[in-house]
Amino acid sequence: PVLVVDFGAQYAQLIARRVREARVYSEIVPHSMPVAEMLAKDPAAIILSGGPSSVYEEGAPGLDAALFDNEVPVFGICYGFQAMAQALGGTVAHTGAREYGRTVLSAQGGTLLRDLPADLPVWMSHGDSVAVAPQGFAVTASTPGAPVAAFEDLTARRAGVQFHPEVAHTEQGQEMLRRFLYDIAGIEPTWTSSNIIDEQVAAIRAKVGDKQVLCGLSGGVDSAVAAALVHKAVGDQLTCVFVDHGLLRAGEAEQVEKDYVAATGIRLKVVDAADTFLGHLAGVTDPEQKRKIIGREFIRTFEAAARELDAERHIEFLVQGTLYPDVVESGGGTGTANIKSHHNVGGLPDDLQFALIEPLRTLFKDEVRALGAELGLPEEMVQRHPFPGPGLAIRIIGAVDRERLDILRAADLIAREELTAAGLDRDVWQFPVVLLADVRSVGVQGDGRTYGHPVVLRPVSSEDAMTADWSRLPYDVIARISTRITNEVREINRVVLDVTSKPPGTIEWE
Ligand code: XMP
Repeated sequence: PVLVVDFGAQYAQLIARRVREARVYSEIVPHSMPVAEMLAKDPAAIILSGGPSSVYEEGAPGLDAALFDNEVPVFGICYGFQAMAQALGGTVAHTGAREYGRTVLSAQGGTLLRDLPADLPVWMSHGDSVAVAPQGFAVTASTPGAPVAAFEDLTARRAGVQFHPEVAHTEQGQEMLRRFLYDIAGIEPTWTSSNIIDEQVAAIRAKVGDKQVLCGLSGGVDSAVAAALVHKAVGDQLTCVFVDHGLLRAGEAEQVEKDYVAATGIRLKVVDAADTFLGHLAGVTDPEQKRKIIGREFIRTFEAAARELDAERHIEFLVQGTLYPDVVESGGGTGTANIKSHHNVGGLPDDLQFALIEPLRTLFKDEVRALGAELGLPEEMVQRHPFPGPGLAIRIIGAVDRERLDILRAADLIAREELTAAGLDRDVWQFPVVLLADVRSVGVQGDGRTYGHPVVLRPVSSEDAMTADWSRLPYDVIARISTRITNEVREINRVVLDVTSKPPGTIEWE
């Protein structure tokens, strides 16, 4: 693999993703990992990520110069660039001057920047800068704030840049990464989702042997793909459980029960728990309270189903659709504020006493989608927008009951249909429709007064749901959705559009 050494989580993830977009397998390792351990992974190259703005900053993580005692190609980015320069005997000027945001790079040839426009917009975020490149390195670019903005040593197969090639604001950034990987490090771009399938299938077979495996399906992409992968590996030894909590959107339960089973042949146990969930949710309006009840009931229901199954066939393994961002978030962040008690309906308590299988642990969402398609899952399932575990319960502002769920389902279905008809599914990350169940407003329809509820359209664009912006959907699409909802859903007489980014808003309303 290409190892991305993490000096500051937000950059490393993005770099790893860009490397894979260049069809080279990559993994992130913490900067605290000893060099010997990194080398033991037999890396094709090592990329040092950005991090603090200066190697002089207090508590700035160190870089073990032993990394350069061997022949592994190395690419330093931003902080990694400075740390590399320093470790190899260059000088980092402790200027204290800062350069943030967009700046223009003057490129002067070299392999990394070969034939790129001479003045190139790049994204910077640094305090100090490299003043003198280490011996053997050619300086190939500068910016107003950084005399040495890029360097390379083709013999040693090492290069570095002061700016961030991984961010979208750096035009040609992906091209530069590719040149490092292909032209400087000499790596072949051969990594594809079928490689992952083969590797994972072999690994799962080796781990599971002839034992029985259980998987909880949430209706979402991740658990569906994880289960399909495990099924490919161990076939009939896998049983899936799908808890229908009655908070799903129109057609979702059926999609899991019919399309998914048809596509995969997986043995599926469906538990209809709508009465239990709605019973416990009756009269509850507080968002956190709703989330806690749903989380608890989900676990109870799943455990009961697992016990029943375990009596029939002894289960030793549990499949989880954990993705890479989940791993990073739970390992990386300390002291982060609890904004919402996210409950991943695929997520289960540890005291279930099963060993875990997490075949998607190293992947990002779009990679999981590619894998799902490769495994033959239906397109509508693979391209589904994320949907929260607590379902429509957190899209009804007010208490949840069957009638309100039906109203919201009808409105939500119209919004989804129109988005799909307009060919915009891929342009939006997610499109919650929210029912303001405790709000009424006056309207007029067919010469009569109405006193109905508003729904909120909340289409957002995002890369990872951590930040988001409201989607600028074409007005005619919004107009069609509005007209259809108010015409077809009797209880709704007003449609409003949420134009808040995240932050300050969150994607969901509760
Ligand atoms: P927020 O509302 O926090 O949501 O901006 C970020 C993303 O997470 C989804 N979400 C959840 N997913 N269990 C889940 O599995 C939850 O409890 C949950 N709450 C929010 C939300 O739909 C968005 O994609």
